[in-house]
Amino acid sequence: MRFFATFAGFYLASVAFATPLNPLNARQNASSPCAAVSASAATQTGAVHTVPAQLALECLTSVPLNKSAALELVDSIAPYLRWQSTTAFLKDPPAEYIEKIQDAVDVWGGLATIKSKVQNSAFANEYEFGWALYRLLQSTHDGHFVFVPDVVGTVFNFARPVALVSVSEDGKALPKPFVYPDIVASSLGNASFTPSAIATINGQKATEYLENWSQYGSLQDRDALYNNVFYELAIVSLGSSSTGMGTFTGGGRGRWVYPGATTTLGFENGTSVTYNNYAKVLVSFDGVTDGTSLYKKWFTANKPKTTSPPASNTSSTPSATATPSATSTPAPGYPPPVFRESHNLIGGYYLEGDYSDVAVLSVPSFVSLDVAEIPFQEVGQKFLAAAKAAGKTKLIVDVSANGGGTILQGYDLYKQLFPTLSAYAAGDRFRAFESTDLVGQIFSDTAEGLPRTLDTKNETLLNLEYDVISSVFNYQTDETIDGKPFASWSAKFGPTTDHGDNYTNLIRWNLSDILTPLNSGGIYVHGFGNLTNFTQPFAAENIVVVTDGYCASTCTIFSELMRQNAGVKYISLGGRSKPGITQAVGGVKGTNNLSAGYIQYLVQLAFNNTSPAEAAALNKTELGEYWSNVPFDRTAIGSNLGVNFRDGIRDGDETGTPLHFVYEPADCRILYTKEMTVDVTAIWKAAADSAWGATNRCVAGELGGGYGKRDLRGSREKRWEDRVLEKRIQSWRQGRKVADYPLDIFTDLKAAKLSGDGLMLP
Ligand SMILES: *[C@@H]1O[C@H](CO)[C@@H](O)[C@H](O)[C@H]1NC(C)=O
Ligand SMILES: *[C@@H]1O[C@H](CO)[C@@H](O)[C@H](O)[C@H]1NC(C)=O
Ligand SMILES: *[C@@H]1O[C@H](CO)[C@@H](O)[C@H](O)[C@H]1NC(C)=O
Ligand SMILES: *[C@@H]1O[C@H](CO)[C@@H](O)[C@H](O)[C@H]1NC(C)=O
Ligand SMILES: *[C@@H]1O[C@H](CO)[C@@H](O)[C@H](O)[C@H]1NC(C)=O
Ligand SMILES: *[C@@H]1O[C@H](CO)[C@@H](O)[C@H](O)[C@H]1NC(C)=O
Ligand SMILES: *[C@@H]1O[C@H](CO)[C@@H](O)[C@H](O)[C@H]1NC(C)=O
Ligand SMILES: *[C@@H]1O[C@H](CO)[C@@H](O)[C@H](O)[C@H]1NC(C)=O
Ligand SMILES: *[C@@H]1O[C@H](CO)[C@@H](O)[C@H](O)[C@H]1NC(C)=O
Ligand SMILES: *[C@@H]1O[C@H](CO)[C@@H](O)[C@H](O)[C@H]1NC(C)=O
Ligand SMILES: *[C@@H]1O[C@H](CO)[C@@H](O)[C@H](O)[C@H]1NC(C)=O
Ligand SMILES: *[C@@H]1O[C@H](CO)[C@@H](O)[C@H](O)[C@H]1NC(C)=O
Repeated sequence: MRFFATFAGFYLASVAFATPLNPLNARQNASSPCAAVSASAATQTGAVHTVPAQLALECLTSVPLNKSAALELVDSIAPYLRWQSTTAFLKDPPAEYIEKIQDAVDVWGGLATIKSKVQNSAFANEYEFGWALYRLLQSTHDGHFVFVPDVVGTVFNFARPVALVSVSEDGKALPKPFVYPDIVASSLGNASFTPSAIATINGQKATEYLENWSQYGSLQDRDALYNNVFYELAIVSLGSSSTGMGTFTGGGRGRWVYPGATTTLGFENGTSVTYNNYAKVLVSFDGVTDGTSLYKKWFTANKPKTTSPPASNTSSTPSATATPSATSTPAPGYPPPVFRESHNLIGGYYLEGDYSDVAVLSVPSFVSLDVAEIPFQEVGQKFLAAAKAAGKTKLIVDVSANGGGTILQGYDLYKQLFPTLSAYAAGDRFRAFESTDLVGQIFSDTAEGLPRTLDTKNETLLNLEYDVISSVFNYQTDETIDGKPFASWSAKFGPTTDHGDNYTNLIRWNLSDILTPLNSGGIYVHGFGNLTNFTQPFAAENIVVVTDGYCASTCTIFSELMRQNAGVKYISLGGRSKPGITQAVGGVKGTNNLSAGYIQYLVQLAFNNTSPAEAAALNKTELGEYWSNVPFDRTAIGSNLGVNFRDGIRDGDETGTPLHFVYEPADCRILYTKEMTVDVTAIWKAAADSAWGATNRCVAGELGGGYGKRDLRGSREKRWEDRVLEKRIQSWRQGRKVADYPLDIFTDLKAAKLSGDGLMLP
C-alpha cells in the first residue's frame, strides 16, 4: 500500500505497513529471537518484511561477540581513519564550537577504549561492540566520517510508523511538534478537527525527547539536526536517496537506531496514542536459527551474494517504494516547474500573483548520480536565462536537503550566478602523513613524463589521465592559493603543523584545467575555458538563499562562495523550539570525502605504478597496511566506510581553523508553518516577503530593512504569461490531495547508488 488514503487509515499505518501476521505466536514457539524473526519473515508476503523493533534488537543482541574478528576489524579500519582530516581538532576544538555546536571527541582514544573493551570481554555481544564503533564516528557529527558495521546496518532498519513535523501556529510563536498526517488532513482534506500538538513522547517533554533523538543524525548543527527529525518536502522530493521522512521515522541515520519497543505520543488535548515500532528485515533469514547462525551467514567474508531481502511469493502488488526513476520522481508540495532535472536534483520555478517578479531555483542536491551531471548544469543555465528573459528581477535559491554531491558543480552554480567574481573563498588541505606522501610521490613521478590531455585515443593513457594525472596526488593538479602552479610534490605536501597534526600546504582547484571534466562528472566550470562570455543574471541584493540547515559538503562550498564573495544573505528555516538566530549551513563543512574503497584503490594504483623491486620496498611502509578486505567484508551492505579528506580554510583566516569548527549565524531565521509543510511556495513567499516585500517574517536577524515601504507588487507589469502561470499554479494548488503526500519514503542507498566527491551520504 503506497499512500494512506484517508486520515482514518492513518493509525493503522503500522498494520498497513506489513506488520508480521502473528509475531507473538512465532516468538513463543521459536527457540531464539533470530529464529522468531526467521519464522515471522517466512509468513509474510509483500516486498517489505517487518518485525517488532524489540524482537529485532533481541535477535541482534543474541549474536555472541567474536573477539578475534572484532580485534581484526578495529585494527583493519585504523589505516583508513588516519585519512580523516580533523581528528586533532575534534579532540581539541575551539571554545565556540563546544559552546554552540558539539562536544569534543577523542577518536583515537575512543578507538583504543573499544579495543581494550574487546580484549577484556567488556562487550556483552557483537551488537554492543558494533554500536560502540558506529557511535564513536557518528558522535563527531562529521557527516563524511562514518562506519556502519554489519551488525548495525546489514540486517535491519528500524522505524516508527508515524511521521512528525515541527511548526509554528502563526510564524512567530515557537514551533511545536505535530503528527504530519494530521496536518495534511486538516490542510487538504475536509477533516473536521483541529490537530493537537504533541506535548510528551514516552512521558518526556516532547521537544526535549526530540532534541535528544536528533543527535543521532549526521549533521553538526543542533537546529539543523532538529529539522532533520521531521517530514520535509525538499527531502521527500529526493525519494529513497534522502533521509526519507526524517530520523524520527527511521530515515537517514535514524534507520540504525533502536527506537524502543513502542512510542507513546501525548497530545495537548489529553489524548495519547501508542505506536508499535518496527524493523524492516533487509536480508534473507533462510537457515538462520539463532545469533550464531546469523553471524555465520551475514557477518563474514562469505556472505550470500544476493542482497535482496526475503524473496517471498508476492501475491499482492509490491509497495511502490520511491526508487529514483529516470522519467520523474514525484515532488509533492512543489508547483509545476519551468525546468527540472528528472530526479529533482535541481528545478526552476516561478511564483504567481504579487510574487511574479520572483524566480526560484530549488537545488536539493549538487548531483550524486552520474546520469544527472550534465542535465544538472543545463537546468541551471536554461532556467537563469529563461527567468531573465521573462523579466524576473529577484531570485530565491533553495538549498534545503542539499547534502552535496559533485564538488565542481558547486563551483559552477556559483559561477553561473556570479561569472565575474573570484571563484575562490577558501583553500583546501589534507592530512600530511606517510600514506598521503608516498601516494603523492608516486603519482607525481608517474605523471611527470606524460601529457595533460583528453585528446587521445590511447586507452592506457586515458586511464592514467583519469586516475593519476588529474589526481590531487599529482602536484601538477591544483594551484597554490595565489593561483600559481606547485613546483614539486614536496612544495604541495609541506607539511605545516597545526593542533599538533601535520597538513599539506593550502591548495585550490585549477578551474581552467583541461582535465576538469574528469573531476566534475563531465562539465566545464562557468567563468573558465570557453564558458567565459556570461553576464551576471541577478544583483547580489536581489538573491537570497534559504536552507533547512541540511547543507553539507559541496553545499557548504557553494554557500561559502555565495556569502563570502558575493555577500548574498542566507535564511535558515525552522530549528529547535527556542528563540534566537540559528545557523543556515548545518552540515559537514569538509570539502571532499573519500570512501575506504577509493583509498584502497589509490594505494593499489601506487603499487601498480612502481617496479616490482620498488613495490616490495613499498610493502614495508604504511602503504603495506591496506591489503586486508576485513573493513569491506564487515561494512553494512549498502554503506561505506568514509572519511573527511579535505578541510576548507577560509581565505584570510590567520588561525587556519577548518570551516567545520566555525560557527556562522544566518542573516534571518524563519519558522516553518503548517502551510509550508504541504506547499513549498509558502516558504518561498515568506522568504520573498522578508527580503524584498512589505512584511518581515524573520523571527531573528533581518535582511536589510525597508519593510512596509518596498512592495513586490507593481514593480513589473503583468504579462499574459503571468496570468497563464497563475492559473496553472492555482489549479495545481486546488488539485492537491492527501494521498499526494507519501508516507513510505525510506532511505535506501542500494536502490539509489549515490556517488560524489563532496557528498554526505544520508
Ligand atoms: C505455535 O505453537 C502452537 C501450539 O503448538 C501452534 O498451535 C501454533 O500454530 C504455533 N504457531 C506458529 C506461528 O508456529
Ligand atoms: C571468529 O572469527 C574468526 C576470524 O577472526 C573466525 O576464524 C572464526 O571462525 C569466528 N568464530 C565464529 C564462532 O564464527
Ligand atoms: C469530504 O468528505 C466526504 C464524506 O466523508 C467525502 O465523500 C469527500 O470525498 C471528502 N472530500 C475531500 C476533499 O476529502
Ligand atoms: C487530540 O489530538 C489528536 C492529534 O491531533 C487527535 O488525533 C485526537 O483525535 C484528538 N482527540 C480528541 C479527543 O479530540
Ligand atoms: C539521549 O538520552 C539518553 C538518556 O539520557 C542518553 O543515554 C543518550 O545517549 C542520548 N542520546 C544522544 C544521541 O545523545
Ligand atoms: C508463488 O505462488 C504460486 C501460487 O501459489 C506458485 O505457483 C509459485 O510456484 C510460487 N512461487 C514461488 C517463487 O514460490
Ligand atoms: C599509450 O600510452 C601509454 C602510457 O603513456 C604508453 O606507454 C603506450 O606506449 C601508448 N600506446 C600507444 C599505442 O601509443
Ligand atoms: C609531523 O611531521 C614531523 C616531521 O615533518 C614529524 O616529526 C611529526 O611526527 C609529525 N607529526 C604527526 C602528528 O604526524
Ligand atoms: C568548450 O570546449 C569544450 C572542449 O574543447 C567543447 O567540448 C565544448 O563544446 C565547448 N563549448 C562551447 C560552448 O564552445
Ligand atoms: C559574447 O556575448 C555577446 C552577447 O551576448 C555576443 O554578441 C558575442 O558574440 C559573444 N562573444 C563570444 C566570443 O562568444
Ligand atoms: C593493479 O594491478 C593488478 C595486476 O595487474 C590488477 O589486477 C589491479 O586491478 C590493479 N589495480 C588497480 C587499482 O589498477
Ligand atoms: C604485500 O604484502 C602482503 C602481505 O602483507 C601480500 O599479501 C601482498 O601480496 C604484498 N604485495 C606486494 C605488491 O608485494
